[in-house]
Amino acid sequence: MVDLRSDTVTKPTAGMRAAMADAEVGDDVYSEDPLVNSLEERVADLFGHEAAVFVPSGTMGNQIGMRLVCQPGQEVLGDAEAHVVTYEMGAAAAIFGLSTRTVVSTGGVLDADQLIEQVRPFGNWHLTPTAAIAVENTHNRAGGLVQPLAQLEKLYAWSRDAGVAVHLDGARIWNAAVASGVPLSTYGRLADTASVCLSKGLGAPIGSVLVASADRIAEARLWRKRLGGGMRQVGVLAAAGHYALDHHVDRLAEDHARARSLAQRLGVDPATVHTNMVVLDGVAAPMLAEAAKGQGVLISQVSATKVRLLTHLDVDDAGIDRAVEVLAPLL
Ligand SMILES: Cc1ncc(COP(=O)(O)O)c(C=O)c1O
Repeated sequence: MVDLRSDTVTKPTAGMRAAMADAEVGDDVYSEDPLVNSLEERVADLFGHEAAVFVPSGTMGNQIGMRLVCQPGQEVLGDAEAHVVTYEMGAAAAIFGLSTRTVVSTGGVLDADQLIEQVRPFGNWHLTPTAAIAVENTHNRAGGLVQPLAQLEKLYAWSRDAGVAVHLDGARIWNAAVASGVPLSTYGRLADTASVCLSKGLGAPIGSVLVASADRIAEARLWRKRLGGGMRQVGVLAAAGHYALDHHVDRLAEDHARARSLAQRLGVDPATVHTNMVVLDGVAAPMLAEAAKGQGVLISQVSATKVRLLTHLDVDDAGIDRAVEVLAPLL
């Protein structure tokens, strides 16, 4: 099988499993798990924030992150294709009482002015005030797009005077940093809260980290516990996270190169490939996915006419060759 459905399908490598097996552990609800504590400090430092909290999933990181900067009855503004409003089961409304409002962007590219002009003020009897703007980098449904730094800078600079917070869904911020050369700390300083995932391209089996100010992270710990995300001897998972940061960040460049090569060989303009995703548009998605599966290549349907192929740790050059061999004749 060549599994190109997602970079979440990666399995822990032998080295990662060894690190997990050797992990020293403690009860993390008592803040006594040394590897969780050091992972939180490490990730907070990487993004230039005061503190961080380890959470089971990117969804929990995003939703708590947004709740920290938006109160019930206020709104989070974001892109119509953002993960936080598309794939998180309406959690902002269902769990936290947050309103969400979206703008339809051009291809998922962040346009600061487009968002800014939609912001609704506090103190007006008629309006739901915009407390936060959510940004996704890389943008999943936009095919792994890296957001333009100038737009992130513009939005953040504006948000300081406006009193609007910025939440970053940085599930694949590592891919953005490797592809663009922009340091993680730069992306970090352009957000008030950021959720980053260890379980996507970095290959850990589970785990995300939410970074923010120390006060906000103290509050995030309450929310995590309330949601049932208080975990115990999870140093075994934090060990996987440390291992991923040690060994699997720089190598994302290989995934990006493979994605470009896959695109080129399937007739897709490689310039449309920013990171580790290839989007095939204008295809009969269900039939293509079914036929490819029959020959051992798994791909993801985004819509009836769009499929998505992701490269990752568990797909090597031979896997790309096999995918091309199967998909090219079907296309
Ligand atoms: C952009 C983005 N944000 C958040 C998530 C949520 O992560 P999780 O599946 O760990 O909840 C994902 C998952 O793929 C994602 O692609």
